[in-house]
Amino acid sequence: MDFRRVDQLPPYVFGTVNQRKLEARRAGDDVIDLGFGNPDIPSNPVVVQKLVEAASNPRNHRYSVSRGLPNLRRAVADRYQRRFGIGLDPETEVIATIGAKEGLSHLLWVLVEPGDVAVVPEPSYPIHIYAPRMAGAEIRRVPVSSDEGYFDALDAICGEQPSPRVLICSFPHNPTTTCVDLPFFERLVGFARDRGIFLVHDFAYADVAFDGYRPPSILEVAGAKEVAVELYTLTKGHSMAGWRMGFVVGNPEAVAALGKLKSYLDYGTFQPIQIASIIALNEGDDYVEEVNAIYRGRREVLVDGLNRNGWKVEKPMGTMFVWAAIPDPYADAGSMAFTLDLLDRAKVAVSPGVGFGPSGDLHVRFALVENEHRIAQAVRGIRRVLDRL
Ligand SMILES: Cc1ncc(COP(=O)(O)O)c(C=O)c1O
Repeated sequence: MDFRRVDQLPPYVFGTVNQRKLEARRAGDDVIDLGFGNPDIPSNPVVVQKLVEAASNPRNHRYSVSRGLPNLRRAVADRYQRRFGIGLDPETEVIATIGAKEGLSHLLWVLVEPGDVAVVPEPSYPIHIYAPRMAGAEIRRVPVSSDEGYFDALDAICGEQPSPRVLICSFPHNPTTTCVDLPFFERLVGFARDRGIFLVHDFAYADVAFDGYRPPSILEVAGAKEVAVELYTLTKGHSMAGWRMGFVVGNPEAVAALGKLKSYLDYGTFQPIQIASIIALNEGDDYVEEVNAIYRGRREVLVDGLNRNGWKVEKPMGTMFVWAAIPDPYADAGSMAFTLDLLDRAKVAVSPGVGFGPSGDLHVRFALVENEHRIAQAVRGIRRVLDRL
């Protein structure tokens, strides 16, 4: 039997690294896993407590609402108001999703169909490519950057026929950690309006930024709601990865279309999770700062350590990743070979850049998901591998 929708998907590149990591661990090696961006910081205890309390109330064991509880949508709107000064109507401009990833996938179902074109980042977090592809659309890739080159490339891509219907972007960007400012989004919104393109901004790292940098929401641009939606999630900033709580906010027509689709697909996230998420959104601002401080500390240990090892790497302003250009003597063999070398000889797992697209092959990505002590141990292991520097 053919499974046509998924047969077109390539094998998951990160699977090879994972397999090797498991084999090494089975053989007794202590592998430091900076590969998968799976947050290790415990969720806010106050939020966990609310979950426990709500879970013991049988009223919360029934079906919930697929769009999300009204109070949950209001809490998102309130947080957007506090954090970005953006007014959102919780009734029409906010919908709950099962994390950003599911939100993106089903959003693309309502935005594109076979024959349509979506512009996606290169390199890219995989769902930015496969959400449009699974919805039947063609993709065109635009190299990620925060400067003029991005708009030049967009101009060229959007001049081709058929002209794209949707553009997916995401800043702070995984894996490159590229960050942008509000004027960048002003220009992008203007571009989308001129070209009749709908913007989908994955804002997964809205709350993970350092050194005074505050990532802008695309909805801060006046009139952005006419041409854009944004995905917001509790996964990273609130360290609630397993809870699967995300949102699509912005353009009311797109939110309504997604709401219609979701009413056929799900009955809403388990209600205690929604109730606890209200607490996270309303009372979690300090906790988000604590999470940031932890990632920042890890970033210092990793980047300073790599630089001391002779591996020149820049500090990211946002995300929980470090995107490191492979040092010259090792770059020719490509990111997969270098990743396997790090795993075998340094006992450190990273993500090969090629897993995010062909242009990623000169980089590896470190996820800051082990503590400072373990990251320092990783740096010492890596020094052994860099003997040709
Ligand atoms: C850019 C980006 N979008 C979405 C996600 C997943 O978010 P969620 O857990 O809300 O599905 C990630 C997680 O790594 C990500 O990096």
